[in-house]
Amino acid sequence: MMTRMKHLLSTKDLDLEVVDRLFLRTEKLKRLRGILSREEKILQGHVVAILFWEPSTRTRMSFELAAYRLGAGVLELHPKESSVIKGETIDDTVANLHSIGCNFFVVRHPTSGEVARLAATQGRDTYFINGGDGANEHPCQALLDAFTIRERRKTFDGVRVAIIGDILRSRVARSNLHLLTRLGASCVVSGPKELLPKELEVGGVEIEKDPAQAVKNADVVMVLRLQRERAGITFDMTEKEYHEKFGLTAKLLQTAKPDAMVMHPGPINRGVEIDSDVADGSQSFILRQSENGLFMRMAVFEALRGELG
Ligand code: CP
Repeated sequence: MMTRMKHLLSTKDLDLEVVDRLFLRTEKLKRLRGILSREEKILQGHVVAILFWEPSTRTRMSFELAAYRLGAGVLELHPKESSVIKGETIDDTVANLHSIGCNFFVVRHPTSGEVARLAATQGRDTYFINGGDGANEHPCQALLDAFTIRERRKTFDGVRVAIIGDILRSRVARSNLHLLTRLGASCVVSGPKELLPKELEVGGVEIEKDPAQAVKNADVVMVLRLQRERAGITFDMTEKEYHEKFGLTAKLLQTAKPDAMVMHPGPINRGVEIDSDVADGSQSFILRQSENGLFMRMAVFEALRGELG
């Protein structure tokens, strides 16, 4: 049976059977190093549009390479150098790109829900991937993070994941909490009180003010950066103060399990949320996350095409 998803917008309602197929396919694509035969390149003749209203390195480049590896043509729109500056709406931009042959759209936008809105209003033969919408969701990041944990731990049962940092404004935290709890991991979040939600929409997640308590006995320590670019809250801790209280140092990591995985979606701010010796240390999976991201994104395109076996 072929597994198909219409869009990738969120991990909240992502079918766990599809997630499992994505894991298996990512594993296979990784073994192949993403190199496919001509017949296997299922995006030949298709055009992928990459529309990023916010900066990106990993997500944008990785989706671009994934599309190339699958045989697609790729068009990248830089809004600030496009007719958006002359007043064209995002809907008209997408409609015009569709009219010249784009039907896959990878979109990053500062407004929560904007990619889902586009997916609901554009034509039937368009496929949308949420590359991050405001503080809402970053589903491909959560998928590649979960794949990286599964690759190492083999299971999510009994796996304790501590997420430390700017939880309130983090789409990575939200998508990971939805996915990891549904897969069976136990999750705890910690950070400065201004950056912790009073309660989480995801059930069963502990909120811990003390990062040392959160990290204690963790199998995975996921570190998030401060998202100062997102307005709306008062937070005046300096980077030095933040590092002293919440930065992942070798000392803090010692309270986790001895083989705990250190993860970070990137970009990392060395000496702020994580020390260099930890980011570059033997327990770090940060570059593995980026590596796995390419293969997961190839698998996501295949799932949108209904080609995920
Ligand atoms: N993790 C992540 O989304 O990184 P970029 O902002 O560089 O894409």
